Amino acid sequence: MRYSEDIIEEVRVRNDIVDIVSGYVKLQKKGSNYFGLCPFHNEKSPSFSVSPAKQMYYCFGCGAGGNVITFVMEYENYSFSEAFKMLADRAGVKLPVEEYSKEAREQEDLRAALLEMNKLAASYFYYQLKKPQGEAGYRYLKDRQLSDETIVRFGLGYSNKTSDDLYRYLRGKGYEDAVLKQSGLVTIEEKGSHDKFWNRVMFPIMDVNNRVIGFGGRVMGAGEPKYLNSPETKLFDKSRNLYGLNYARLSREKYILICEGYMDVIAMHQAGFTNAVASLGTAFTTQHAQLLKRYTDKVILTYDSDGAGRKAALRAIPILRDAGVSIRVLNMEPYKDPDEFIKNLGAEEFKQRIEQAQNSFLFEIEVLKKNYKMDDPEQKTEFYNQTARKLLEFPEALERENYLEAVSREFFINYQDLKRLVNRLGATLGPVRSSVRGEEEENGKNQRKKEKEDGVMQSQRLLLTWLIENPVLFDKIKGVITPDDFIEELYHKVAQMVFDGHAAGTLNPAEILNHFIDDDDQYRTVAGLFHASLKESLDNEEQKKAFSETIMKVKKNSLDHASRHAAGIEELQRIIKEQAALRDLNISLD
Ligand code: UTP
Ligand code: MN
Repeated sequence: MRYSEDIIEEVRVRNDIVDIVSGYVKLQKKGSNYFGLCPFHNEKSPSFSVSPAKQMYYCFGCGAGGNVITFVMEYENYSFSEAFKMLADRAGVKLPVEEYSKEAREQEDLRAALLEMNKLAASYFYYQLKKPQGEAGYRYLKDRQLSDETIVRFGLGYSNKTSDDLYRYLRGKGYEDAVLKQSGLVTIEEKGSHDKFWNRVMFPIMDVNNRVIGFGGRVMGAGEPKYLNSPETKLFDKSRNLYGLNYARLSREKYILICEGYMDVIAMHQAGFTNAVASLGTAFTTQHAQLLKRYTDKVILTYDSDGAGRKAALRAIPILRDAGVSIRVLNMEPYKDPDEFIKNLGAEEFKQRIEQAQNSFLFEIEVLKKNYKMDDPEQKTEFYNQTARKLLEFPEALERENYLEAVSREFFINYQDLKRLVNRLGATLGPVRSSVRGEEEENGKNQRKKEKEDGVMQSQRLLLTWLIENPVLFDKIKGVITPDDFIEELYHKVAQMVFDGHAAGTLNPAEILNHFIDDDDQYRTVAGLFHASLKESLDNEEQKKAFSETIMKVKKNSLDHASRHAAGIEELQRIIKEQAALRDLNISLD
């Protein structure tokens, strides 16, 4: 849906940024601005600022910045249109009816119906738990030492012994078989429809926005299957959701605990570890890693301490590593899983295990070692060889060296011997390595090129940010810099608006953002330009120098670019003259 600029502006203006942010972050007024702990990174002292005058926010710590709409997008993990609708709704702005294609409309309606049915089912199960017919379920949860508070927090419930009561309940709410069928909650058959979940305690699965998207149901006691889960539906994609993430993402810990099951997550949360999530019996996927990466770059694996759990950890480690997440592995011995551990040894002891969690590489070597009989010389040698080979996977010499040291210490392998082995193996694996090295050099070249481009982009971005922050600077750059000097297409567009706005005396950053709503990525980039930054004005020597250097960089790049694209000799001559003049140009803030 393409909304008009007018209506976007109306929604923005009618949602005061201080009001909205205060709903999520505790703010304190200091001077004309507000400060609080940044919700986008972990910190102990407040570097997150909100400017009521500019209607923008900015974090000095992590650089997050934007207007009221980007705030909601970032915080709630919403797309532009989700955030926009939420804010419109809140301010009572009526949005024009969306003109979807017929299919899109149907898809949207189906999603809404599925969400509604899951929500109804969750409250239905919850209601049963407190009724006489739910007594067994309630007992079961209590026997597993869950408090009433925990039961409420996770919305736990009970599915009756009656085989079709949820089906009838949802029919009664007006849902037809065709839609009900897609919910995964019931099986529709000619000879009679029945509920999927029957005589089980129920665990609603929520997405990061606390919407119920599916269920797990556990038998009370022995029975197969132990857990029955909702099938994949239009809403529920197991490889993209993590149980407990709706709460874990709001925890103030720097890391996230990953475990295997519902009960583990719940037990950890109840014990105060509200940063725990579970991949719910399915293998950990790259999508899971990407999802986590939005909230943290550190995880601790708390998988079961049996063979299956170790295997799951070994699978998850490279996936997380590739996503750039640092991983440690918690040792739960002698207990099987976090639930049992906490029940037996308590939260304090668990906290200690968190602190002692093992580096994932050392964990991998330790598991590797279990495959070899160390009292057999041949097998022992093979273990050393495999260890050396794994060490060679570190492309950085320094990092490899650090691990070499750690491995020799942890596994009692003579450091010099192991080092010699690694070097020799590295040499024999020469051909393989040299092609890897070739690739690295190639990458190095690209890397440098990329860095140069980034540097130019950065200057353009910096200059724009400064101009928006300190409109007096427009006088300093008069006659030197025009919007056309911003080569990068997106920045050029923004610069044009900023310069025009300044000339007309109507420069309004928060409004300029409205022009970039078609692309969420662009929107975020532009939002990043408009810091409600409270940086002192550019008055110290260093900043003065930075300012003139930035202008030179932007101008030089613009002229270089122009000379590469000059249409004729005359234009080229003009550019060369300007380039020469640039050498003598002296722009200063004084
Ligand atoms: P576990 O068998 O380790 O169960 O399965 P658990 O978490 O310790 O459960 P309790 O303590 O016996 O109640 C781990 C996870 O694997 C999935 C579930 O998500 C479970 O939480 N699972 C397990 C299934 O989906 N189906 C099953 O039959 C078993
Ligand atoms: Mn368990």
